[in-house]
Amino acid sequence: MHVELTDGITWVGVIDWNIRDFHGYETRRGSTYNAYLVRGEKTALVDTVKHSFVNTLLENIEETVGLPAVDYVVANHAEPDHSGSLPAVLEATGATLVTNEKAVGALSGYYDTTGWPIEIVATGDSLDLGGRSLSFVQTPMVHWPESMVTYCPEDRVLLSNDAFGQHLATSARFDDEVELPVAMDEAKTYYANIVMLYGRPIAKAMEALGGLEIDMIAPAHGVIWRSHVPKILDAYSDWVQCRPVPKVLVIYESMWGSTDCMAHEIVKGVIAGGAQVKLMDVGHTHRTEIATEVLDAATIAVGSPTLNMTLMPEIAGVLTYLKGLAPKGKAGLAFGSYGWAPSGPKAVSDYLEEMKVEVLREPLTAQWRPGEEQRAECREAGRLLAARALETAGETACASL
Ligand code: FEO
Repeated sequence: MHVELTDGITWVGVIDWNIRDFHGYETRRGSTYNAYLVRGEKTALVDTVKHSFVNTLLENIEETVGLPAVDYVVANHAEPDHSGSLPAVLEATGATLVTNEKAVGALSGYYDTTGWPIEIVATGDSLDLGGRSLSFVQTPMVHWPESMVTYCPEDRVLLSNDAFGQHLATSARFDDEVELPVAMDEAKTYYANIVMLYGRPIAKAMEALGGLEIDMIAPAHGVIWRSHVPKILDAYSDWVQCRPVPKVLVIYESMWGSTDCMAHEIVKGVIAGGAQVKLMDVGHTHRTEIATEVLDAATIAVGSPTLNMTLMPEIAGVLTYLKGLAPKGKAGLAFGSYGWAPSGPKAVSDYLEEMKVEVLREPLTAQWRPGEEQRAECREAGRLLAARALETAGETACASL
């Protein structure tokens, strides 16, 4: 299977319909691993695919140009979902690997690279294919140190690897062949769960790419942007700058219903305060979805009762995941019930501080069951969260472009 992007660039990737877990990220709609053939007088393959799909990739190349026609394989990124088929492709084609120095280090950690013909490139370098060329821009920490993107100036196509990607398995190859809200939703989920931590490097990368004329962005996952390039660039700009919407998230785990009751009272307060709100019980909502909602939430309330003098395990897992992704510019508070020691909600509050969330008040607590006084306090806290969310919505909370 192959699909033409232009008269010289062809998609020869694979569709992974069944993947549902991508190192902890729930890929509810599957994914694709996109590889592209760029043809001038010589031919380059840009990126490969996950090793389990190597035969499909080789078949796609064979039916398009024939394996011996591939002169170069460009590796934009060493992560195995893009490099897993590299050894087999290099062996089958006899091509020269084109990549940056850092990527060579990472690739030689994964594979035996002895004897591979390698051409090292860096930002500003070009590969002349004869009638078509490829230029390279290193994009360190978007999202690995060796990450780079490849640009074809003759076709104005940016082969962006992970950036602008979506985990979306579909027979469609282009953004105008799928429902746009689905592609944008998956792009947002991808950004939140893979690259949210790297806002500043992404801002730098976008600056570096700012001078390029781009008609098409061809990422390594999901659909190719050709009709909605400004829309995905604008969305990245908002996400990089951590611009929240007036939204409050109430994220919690409950044991016997008391923390659940507090969560619902907080929600009532947010609604009364006029902000958007989402309630997410970690027992029913995967961390992937929670991280996606956190991306553009202005304020968060996080709840856990006390279990064994600390917080509950599922909410601890979600907080660990979020701490790693390091959302910026959030304000929030902790809440939870307890029997004899309020150490669960206190541990949540400590976690929020470690995550550099601005903690708006001491933890809301309720012993055994929340009475009317505690429920009123929760509603009041909901109003506080709503007021802050309305006040800070749309403000730039981090890297400006
Ligand atoms: Fe799609 Fe960072 O690999």
